[in-house]
Amino acid sequence: MLEIVDKTHDEHRQGEAIAPQAGDTRTYAKKFYIESYGCQMNFNDSEIVASILNNEGFGATRNVEEADLVLLNTCSIREKAEQTVRKRLTEFKKTKKSRPGFLVGVLGCMAERLKAQFLEEEKLVDLVVGPDAYRTLPALIEEAGTGQKAINVLLSREETYADISPVRLNSNGVTAFVSIMRGCNNMCAFCVVPFTRGRERSRDPYSIVAEATDLFERGYREVTLLGQNVDSYYFVDEQKDETVTFAALLEKVAAISPLLRVRFSTSHPKDITDEVLFTMARHENICNYIHLPVQSGSTRILQLMNRTYTREWYMKKVDRIKEILPDCGLSTDVITGFCTETEEDHQDTLAMMEYAHYDLAYMFAYSERPGTLAARRYTDDIPEEVKKRRLAEVVALHRRHTLESMQQDVGKVFTVLVEGVSKRSENDLFGRNDQNKVVVFPRGDHQKGSYVKVKIVSCTAGTLIGKPVDID
Ligand code: SAH
Ligand code: SF4
Ligand code: F3S
Repeated sequence: MLEIVDKTHDEHRQGEAIAPQAGDTRTYAKKFYIESYGCQMNFNDSEIVASILNNEGFGATRNVEEADLVLLNTCSIREKAEQTVRKRLTEFKKTKKSRPGFLVGVLGCMAERLKAQFLEEEKLVDLVVGPDAYRTLPALIEEAGTGQKAINVLLSREETYADISPVRLNSNGVTAFVSIMRGCNNMCAFCVVPFTRGRERSRDPYSIVAEATDLFERGYREVTLLGQNVDSYYFVDEQKDETVTFAALLEKVAAISPLLRVRFSTSHPKDITDEVLFTMARHENICNYIHLPVQSGSTRILQLMNRTYTREWYMKKVDRIKEILPDCGLSTDVITGFCTETEEDHQDTLAMMEYAHYDLAYMFAYSERPGTLAARRYTDDIPEEVKKRRLAEVVALHRRHTLESMQQDVGKVFTVLVEGVSKRSENDLFGRNDQNKVVVFPRGDHQKGSYVKVKIVSCTAGTLIGKPVDID
């Protein structure tokens, strides 16, 4: 059902264990194992956690059996995400029984949502640490080591981990994610994020530019700036008497080098400005790709969702993007079966998808989350089979659109940033074009991290297949 997996925005990527950082020659007395669930921001947080733990003498391992400490960095966005984590936790039971001193910790959004309840319910959990409390991990691990249950789920209005340089785990050495803000001040009625991540705060631009510059100097060629709502990035520099908007931040990161590609995610349709679109148009190295979640095509449902835009407003935004950035890739998130959704509302969503013709979409059946506005105000009244049937219709339409969008690219030439050797064949390389589509082509003498001009000769639903052309 949920198809294409993409790294910029990926709630479906589950439980990846992360490998030790390549080239780390330090020796560690103790080992930790971490699995991350949820969005890319959570994966990025795991890299911050890894950095904190490395400094405490813990090295990363991919093998639970070798670990002294197991951490699950969790997601609460839908019920299924939480169920997966609960099931995973039970699998550590045996190891815990057989190995005294073996600690299990729950981090991230589920830790924040369930707090001490976790320690009471799940006897196997020793540590519960919320997303703003990772600096206290060393003290909490020590506390848990003495047999006490350790917990810190305090949310902060300031924490951005700006000074912690994330340890790049499972990295391809070419593309990396940089968090530019934390939390969310929007109150979309279905969403648990404002409760699990707290108030929105922007990270200072100097540390963002420094992190991106360092990545570039280490051979990385693409950074994706991350936030739940990047367009509301706003930093007041009191010393310079200057305010930095998201457009200004993009400008600063793009100026690092023309060889460094810049992407960003996620844009809230109500906040993305013309200034951002013009900045993208001005800089060739800011990729022409926008993730602009619509959630629903019905104005009535959008209002209930508290998205603060109408169907027409969203359509105008799409028009504006296509006007300023004619070849811009566009992707979305869609929820089917939100409270009170009628067949007519659902048809509006399908019509909206026809209008925007998304290159990529993440589609979900509505899952009620405790404590959210929707859970408090409305009844989750759409039967599960109706939600699923509507989801299937949305997915089927989207499949057609992605295939059409891929087919339209056959014959075109794109600049592809090479990310590595194709999984299917050692003789092929893969990378992505400006619009974030995956391109596969014969290896030749090309290297990971380089830009190659590729002419597209054919495609599948998820991949463009091409041949390098001579650079003129
Ligand atoms: N900040 C992003 C979204 C983050 S959550 C934005 O504003 O667009 C990622 C996606 O999960 C959302 O866009 C939404 O489509 C989906 N989602 C969030 N809560 C959900 C719920 N309760 N049920 C189903 N899908 C949900
Ligand atoms: Fe959730 Fe809305 Fe914030 Fe996105 S903008 S994280 S959907 S509350
Ligand atoms: Fe999930 Fe938390 Fe991200 S709920 S989607 S991990 S912010």
